[in-house]
Amino acid sequence: VHEPHLQDSFTSLSVDTESLQRQIEELSTFSDTPAPSVTRVLYSEKDVSARRYIKNLMALSGLSVKEDAVGNIFGRWDGYEPELAPVSTGSHIDAIPYSGKYDGVVGVLGAIEAINVLKRSGFKPKRSLEVIMFTSEEPTRFGISCLGSRLLAGSQELAELLKTTVDGQNISFSDAARFAGYENAQDLSSVFLPKGSYSAFIELHIEQGPILEEEATSIGVVTAIAAPASIKVDFEGNGGHAGAVLMPMRNDAGLAAAELALAVEKHVLESGSIDTVGTVGILELHPGAINSIPSKAHLEIDTRDINEARRNDVIEKIRNSALSICKKRSVKLSEFKIVNQDPPALSDDSITKATESACRELNLSHKKMISRAYHDSLFMARISPMGMIFIPCYKGYSHKPEEFAAPEDVANGVRVLALTLAKLSLA
Ligand code: GLV
Ligand code: MN
Ligand code: MN
Ligand code: MN
Repeated sequence: VHEPHLQDSFTSLSVDTESLQRQIEELSTFSDTPAPSVTRVLYSEKDVSARRYIKNLMALSGLSVKEDAVGNIFGRWDGYEPELAPVSTGSHIDAIPYSGKYDGVVGVLGAIEAINVLKRSGFKPKRSLEVIMFTSEEPTRFGISCLGSRLLAGSQELAELLKTTVDGQNISFSDAARFAGYENAQDLSSVFLPKGSYSAFIELHIEQGPILEEEATSIGVVTAIAAPASIKVDFEGNGGHAGAVLMPMRNDAGLAAAELALAVEKHVLESGSIDTVGTVGILELHPGAINSIPSKAHLEIDTRDINEARRNDVIEKIRNSALSICKKRSVKLSEFKIVNQDPPALSDDSITKATESACRELNLSHKKMISRAYHDSLFMARISPMGMIFIPCYKGYSHKPEEFAAPEDVANGVRVLALTLAKLSLA
């Protein structure tokens, strides 16, 4: 398609970097831990305030704002052919404990700014453009990653599971949702969107890896998202007095957990591929007293790979280790639950091509890459052609307070997003 006007307006137009940076700072103050860290957990007071902030910005940009039963937020700019499937973009603003300001946020605030850029340029969308803020991309509160996008993509399994899901404080999902103002979170099938609801979905995100910065490349064009899985494990033993119970008499649930954590590392390394990773990010001992032998241990294991079969193989080895550790230590495996075991997702050629040509027109260096982190895009790919735009971040840091993306890199990402949206809107 020949789009001379579009191209001309974009090379001249710039992002309102000052406002965008101010918004990133303001949003980061809705946090339950001190700056520079950010902690924003699903349906907490801070999350509710941050949601209000986003809805307000969407309204200020002239978008019509809607929310679904779990609080996925949609801001729509009607196109001149509004009966066509819209083009959507977005990300999340929830933040894991003690993380940073940019993960997800760049793809929400940046998407709203991309709309502003398009509006200022005089662009008129043919297909409607929609900004989506997804509920709970992070698994922090209920142990379920990409909760909002998984439901949007029609996960019956998750809708069923959420009926009985509670958080660490034993608060049910629907009570937590009600606290945040979502009264209808029992009716989860209302969240499902049929395939074809969008003609394209594209997410802007920090790379969360070091490649773009190291190679001084402005933009990453994501071709695939690695396959994540998470597992919950509980061991139980008899516990007892740390002085009085002699070593041969013990069945220590904590040592079983420690051994399983090491087994995770071993199985991952034995895959022989640098792309296989595994992490025990949660390890809790009960009763958690120095002079009491742990009677219960709870682990949560995250394992990922770009190769799904290889990742599944690691999961089976972890399961076998859990069983053999139990036998050897006479502890009970009271739970071994695979919470999710998601396949990888591929970007759609039509979107990667649109993004690549946007980069060329904007004179920005770019390279194709895979995403090792997961994103809402992993699930949007089930109902829509999907693509992602990465920008460099400082040393690849993410999920920690030192996370940083330079204002000009954020602005470049927004410009590429805006031009990609414009192209897809006219397609
Ligand atoms: C997203 O936060 C991930 O863990 O990849
Ligand atoms: Mn994250
Ligand atoms: Mn993220
Ligand atoms: Mn458990």
